[in-house]
Amino acid sequence: MKKLNHVLLAGTFALACASCSQTGQEANYQVIPLPQEISLTQESPFQLNKNTLIAYPENNILLQRNAEFLSEYIQQSTGYAPKTKAIATGEQMKNAIVLELNPEIANKEGYVLTTTPEGISITGQTENGVFYGVQTLRKSIPAEAKGADILLPTGEIKDEPRFSYRGMHLDVCRHFFPLEFVKKYIDLLAMHNMNTFHWHLTDDQGWRIEIKKYPKLTEIGSQRNRTMIGKNTSEYDNTPHGGFFTQEEAKEIVRYAQERYITVIPEVDLPGHMLAALAAYPEMGCTGGPYEVCPLWGVFEDVLCIGNDQTMQFLEDVMAEIIEIFPSKYIHIGGDEAPRNRWKECPKCQARIKAEGLKATQNHTAEDRLQSYCMTRIEKFLNSKGRLIIGWDEILEGDIAPNATVMSWRGASGGIKAAQMGHDVIMTPNTYCYFDYYQTADTKDEPFGIGGYVPIEKVYSLDPTFDLNEEQKKHIIGAQANLWTEYITTTEHVEYMVLPRMAALAEVQWTQPEKKDFKEFTKRLARLMKFYQRDDLNYAKHVYDLKTDFVPDTDKKAVTVTLSTIDDAPIYYTLDGTEPTTASLRYTEPVTITETADFQAVAIRPEGRSKIANKKLFFNKATYCPIELAFQPSKQYKFKGAITLVDGMKGNDSYATGAWLGFIDNDVEAIIDLGQETEIKRVATNALVDMGSWIMGSTGMKVAVSNDNNTFREVASKEIPAETDIAKKSIENYEITFEPVQARYVKVVIKRSPTLPKGHAGEGKAAFLFIDEIEID
Ligand code: ACM
Ligand code: ZN
Repeated sequence: MKKLNHVLLAGTFALACASCSQTGQEANYQVIPLPQEISLTQESPFQLNKNTLIAYPENNILLQRNAEFLSEYIQQSTGYAPKTKAIATGEQMKNAIVLELNPEIANKEGYVLTTTPEGISITGQTENGVFYGVQTLRKSIPAEAKGADILLPTGEIKDEPRFSYRGMHLDVCRHFFPLEFVKKYIDLLAMHNMNTFHWHLTDDQGWRIEIKKYPKLTEIGSQRNRTMIGKNTSEYDNTPHGGFFTQEEAKEIVRYAQERYITVIPEVDLPGHMLAALAAYPEMGCTGGPYEVCPLWGVFEDVLCIGNDQTMQFLEDVMAEIIEIFPSKYIHIGGDEAPRNRWKECPKCQARIKAEGLKATQNHTAEDRLQSYCMTRIEKFLNSKGRLIIGWDEILEGDIAPNATVMSWRGASGGIKAAQMGHDVIMTPNTYCYFDYYQTADTKDEPFGIGGYVPIEKVYSLDPTFDLNEEQKKHIIGAQANLWTEYITTTEHVEYMVLPRMAALAEVQWTQPEKKDFKEFTKRLARLMKFYQRDDLNYAKHVYDLKTDFVPDTDKKAVTVTLSTIDDAPIYYTLDGTEPTTASLRYTEPVTITETADFQAVAIRPEGRSKIANKKLFFNKATYCPIELAFQPSKQYKFKGAITLVDGMKGNDSYATGAWLGFIDNDVEAIIDLGQETEIKRVATNALVDMGSWIMGSTGMKVAVSNDNNTFREVASKEIPAETDIAKKSIENYEITFEPVQARYVKVVIKRSPTLPKGHAGEGKAAFLFIDEIEID
């Protein structure tokens, strides 16, 4: 079989085959996730038409259902639904798509899809594998080909997933989403070859699953009376919000998912994130309440009382009903974000610590170990029922439950550590997989969100095994993206956050890393997006935005701007702040800028104009001068380092874009070398204040000068009152002026705020200081 690469163009046009007079729309096997092996031959294509049959072995009801799915998928594209037909073993078919099992296929979820001029066969070791062959075939056919015959190139696809756990999560607690939408979400998982739906069913703001033994969980715990408006405000909407799934409804979801080879893993998050349950049963908290189904977002001190036997019984009772609803091998028992404060004060919890001999160790407090005690008890209960637990990476703090699988969310480090310890791991690092984070750095036109920045390229770049060794890599069973819904109130917004980042995740989960290529992926994505479009899904289109890269050059004292689009669309730009048009400068190569400019650029396609990319560049005496920092920014917020402070570019209201440097352990202390003795009389800087994200402004500045970079003379200093408004979000300008002096080296100290203020969720803890530019005039 001859291998041809990239021979096929996207087939939305009618194709006429000269030798065989076939007409129709062409299929393209370059789908998402990209199959591992596609080998095409040059025979005349198979022509799928109204008379094509979809055959399955008689008495195999799973393959019968797969055949019915395929017929429905083909109908969505073409308008006609091929008939399905049971056939006897060995029965030869013409003009048919034949689904069969083949025990010789090694991977349980693998498949082989073979196309000849006469027909198509899809075989798998299991029906699951055949299902993925069906998904590949459906995505190969153009999304919109109404009434057309489809020409399928001949050849063979051999495919299997890289990871056995391929998940998406949905939080239905912070906002409730109805049963029909959960099914739609599951359909999206199926289309992206995912096999696990992690259903986050309980949290502070709502308990969403019926538990018959504890009816108040849903009577009281599923309803909150009010929700905070915005972020860290003290305003409420006074609008009740609620909803829950009956056990019958949850079972309906389990069945619906199962038909699509998707396992539903329920999460009952314990012992923190339990305010909804505590509102219903206050006796299960350390203080006895009263508690409210939480109207706020965050982490709360009131958690389950682990010293109380009634609480432990409650947890086992809940789990006993949960496992009756959900047949999954794994049950997720949370374990994240459980403050220990109440346990420290609670006589019952302290008695439990004593009775169980839970002593503090070098790295863990007795209360950390109390949490582990709780997790391990529930793990033992579930293990005794034949189930395994998953917990968030906090379960590593203390004595990790012995058979636990760890879900790494605070970056990948927890998962890496767990794999090194021999635990199975699911990677959901927030830095790659939190789809509640913004997908663009330019957030002004985005629906209000929790913050953060995870563009689709970042998702695509994830390799869940990082640099673990071969033995440890085996413990990384897969990856998942999480969708927390504090600020996501509608199903349209859910779709916007997951599409198309889910497509990037699908290749992370399925495709071998050496086959991944972002640029090629975006071409495949353009075709997948036509399905999203056809199905009226509210997907995000940022991949078509203009990409800009501004690289400072301290030698030339300039910035070089590189522009690109995924489809190499024509780009036009201006430097004076005017709106670019086709009459403006056409971008052909990187542009070097050496003076203050208001840069604007746009890609202009036949279908319309892209969003304008703009950047104001401010040149002052410090711009692109060598700069040294006495103390480095925090590792997560170091980005390109010190140069960021003199790169002529200012940050917007998002701390995570790379335009701001974030400091937490030390003040900012920079020495800027102006290159020669220069008259100066003003130093200014900007700080991002985002109290909700634990970022405060500066409390003072100092300027000292030197001509030898050794002896410095202070020329000015200033105190700045510390921020007290716990909801503040702003960009603050700080300026200090002084009598003109001659200096070559300028030392600028920008002081942090000592601690987060009274009333803040992090009261008394360290605050970040985020700085972008240091200007000297
Ligand atoms: C989490 O995001 N708290 C798991
Ligand atoms: Zn207690």
